[in-house]
Amino acid sequence: MMPEIETARLRLRQFTLADFDDLFRLYSDSQVMQYLSLRTKEQTQASLYKHIQHWQEYNFGMWGVIHKESGKLIGRCGLGFLENTPEVELGYVFDKSYWNMGLATEASKATLKYGFEEVKLERIVAIAKPENIASVRVIQKVGMKYEKDAHYYGVDVVYYAVSRDKWQSNN
Ligand SMILES: CC(C)(COP(=O)(O)OP(=O)(O)OC[C@H]1O[C@@H](n2cnc3c(N)ncnc32)[C@H](O)[C@@H]1OP(=O)(O)O)[C@@H](O)C(=O)NCCC(=O)NCCS
Repeated sequence: MMPEIETARLRLRQFTLADFDDLFRLYSDSQVMQYLSLRTKEQTQASLYKHIQHWQEYNFGMWGVIHKESGKLIGRCGLGFLENTPEVELGYVFDKSYWNMGLATEASKATLKYGFEEVKLERIVAIAKPENIASVRVIQKVGMKYEKDAHYYGVDVVYYAVSRDKWQSNN
């Protein structure tokens, strides 16, 4: 049984192939993907398979985020490997109709708790383009600390991290 998480306003659950249309709506929205790369149908399908498979392999991964009140899939949030490293990164993408309500922060806090308490990770990192102010804000709000400027996925990013010890002393 793959884990699910419930927060005040959200349910974080596994992706299924039936989520394709909702995911493609996000991944093909130029405003949502402004700081990422737009994905074609084929790329979205490949991402969806990867989201599903990653869980089976590592017992962590991306969740589909359900807005409990509407029952809609409004985003994705979870953990993955930072490009070409063994480090685990927090990541998220939400539907723009649901921005600035604290939902990414709510999902990210639950994701960190899962990563530290269930997966027993030692450390979780997060990166964002510095101009992606909302994303940097979320990273800060969940208690991660700036470590360096870095370069991943072909772009300049700010790199933040939090250790399990640090996280535990604040939660
Ligand atoms: C990044 C993202 C997930 C944030 O989701 P969200 O649910 O709106 O996040 P929250 O509401 O929890 O927090 C957003 C914070 O950014 C702030 N913010 C957003 N836009 C801002 C702006 N232009 N200037 C200053 N602050 C801004 C909000 O005020 C809020 O901070 P606060 O609580 O201190 O007021 C969402 O914007 C998104 O999906 N973006 C597109 C995908 C993406 O870029 N993902 C991250 C890739 S690294």
